Amino acid sequence: MGLAIAVQLAVVSLSYLVRARSGMADAYVASESPIAQAGILAAIGPDGANSGGAAAGVIVASPSSSDPDYLYTWTRDAALVSRVLVDEYTSGGDTSLQSVIEAYISAQETIQHIDNPSGGYDSGGLGEPKFNIDLAAFTDAWGRPQRDGPALRAITLITYGNYLLSNDNSSYVTDNLWPVVQADLNYVVQYWNQSTFDLWEEVQGSSFFTTAEQHAALRYGATFATAVGDSSSASSYTTQADSLLCFMQSYWNDAEGYITANTAGGRSGIDANGVLTSIHTFDIAAGCDSVTFQPCSDRALSNLKVYVDSFRGLYSINTGSDTDPILTGRYKEDTYYNGNPWYLTTFAVAEQLYDALTTWDSLGSLEVTDVSLAFFQQFDSAAATGTYDSSSDEYTTLTGAVRDWADGFLEVLASFTPSDGSLAEQVDKSSGSPTSAADLTWSYASAITAFNARDGFTPASWGASGLTASC
Ligand SMILES: *[C@@H]1O[C@H](CO)[C@@H](O)[C@H](O)[C@H]1NC(C)=O
Ligand SMILES: *[C@@H]1O[C@H](CO)[C@@H](O)[C@H](O)[C@H]1NC(C)=O
Repeated sequence: MGLAIAVQLAVVSLSYLVRARSGMADAYVASESPIAQAGILAAIGPDGANSGGAAAGVIVASPSSSDPDYLYTWTRDAALVSRVLVDEYTSGGDTSLQSVIEAYISAQETIQHIDNPSGGYDSGGLGEPKFNIDLAAFTDAWGRPQRDGPALRAITLITYGNYLLSNDNSSYVTDNLWPVVQADLNYVVQYWNQSTFDLWEEVQGSSFFTTAEQHAALRYGATFATAVGDSSSASSYTTQADSLLCFMQSYWNDAEGYITANTAGGRSGIDANGVLTSIHTFDIAAGCDSVTFQPCSDRALSNLKVYVDSFRGLYSINTGSDTDPILTGRYKEDTYYNGNPWYLTTFAVAEQLYDALTTWDSLGSLEVTDVSLAFFQQFDSAAATGTYDSSSDEYTTLTGAVRDWADGFLEVLASFTPSDGSLAEQVDKSSGSPTSAADLTWSYASAITAFNARDGFTPASWGASGLTASC
């Protein structure tokens, strides 16, 4: 028996080493990055090959026009996708992106003014989730409003605006950008405490992702408003942000160590919602702060484990032991298209882990708390609470294992990515074939942001540092 265990251990550690040294994740990043980048640009009208003739600057969700019909532009998806381009451009990347970003901004300004079933420009219309790609209102029944859209769009635009301000281009910011941002932030101020459909467009209530993005948008917006000389907006944003930060805390399920995605819906509440929030409100200046659920916070790590584990045994294509990287979906009770794993949710898991690693390296230490202990014990069953300096063996062990684990999620994704590199919305849980919408623009964006996080990219700080929730 002793020998059997020794042999087993040898096999386990061998496969671990082989995996770590195989460069499979490196190879996937190298091959998939240009495809994902091209996939994003192809979705943008009027010239993008997958844009279906969309108006200039309109980012389509997917070229799929039936089963499912995603040939629309969603405010949420477009904001997250354009955030990738803004981050690339403002961090010194491809200068040709400037005209793409300008077209996106101009399309959004038009969209803000389109009367739609959620309302008009200053009567709730900014919460409309999606529009036709020729910039007409979509008038069929839908899960509306979705109040994360204006917040996400504001965050993208503020990052661009801050870049312009630091490059002596304040006139464009004041004249063109600020009015668009201000309309979105004023919408958040006015409506954050009213119910919304969640990011999956299914549950009407309050949703963690929406609340957290609204919070981040208002903090970011307060500093931006000050920079453009509007101190009265700045103070109103800060006041509401304080209330939102307080409200955010109520989603935390302390007994079971996860973030409850929605206040309604009748489900467990274990959902990719929390992981997506963590990566899309990452602010390295806040370290591992748990009040804002930073990627390396004990709450966000505990949530990540509970979320990943909820998919173990759920999809037959997932194999391996009870800590192996697997494909994950939106939430385990999902029945949409039969309930499958999604590319973008699995990329998000890897991204949160890379963000955490970058933050620990910048802090020079890693803390294991009672809340995050179970997460770390996946990698070292003897892990104990405490703070581990980056010079310690435990820091090396844990961060090395977390990096291998993160790469493992990319490896699983690689094995379910077709040879042409295209990324649909979902992976069929039994056959492993791509399913639902083809060429989902958000899937491509999620690949890029995960890859950038693996390279240590950190998005601009939005003001998460030093906050306390006084409830
Ligand atoms: C300011 O930024 C806008 C938007 O990107 C751009 O169109 C304009 O050319 C810039 N102006 C200057 C002087 O750089
Ligand atoms: C409004 O805010 C209060 C206080 O944070 C909260 O208890 C309530 O659930 C919120 N309602 C909605 C719909 O956001």
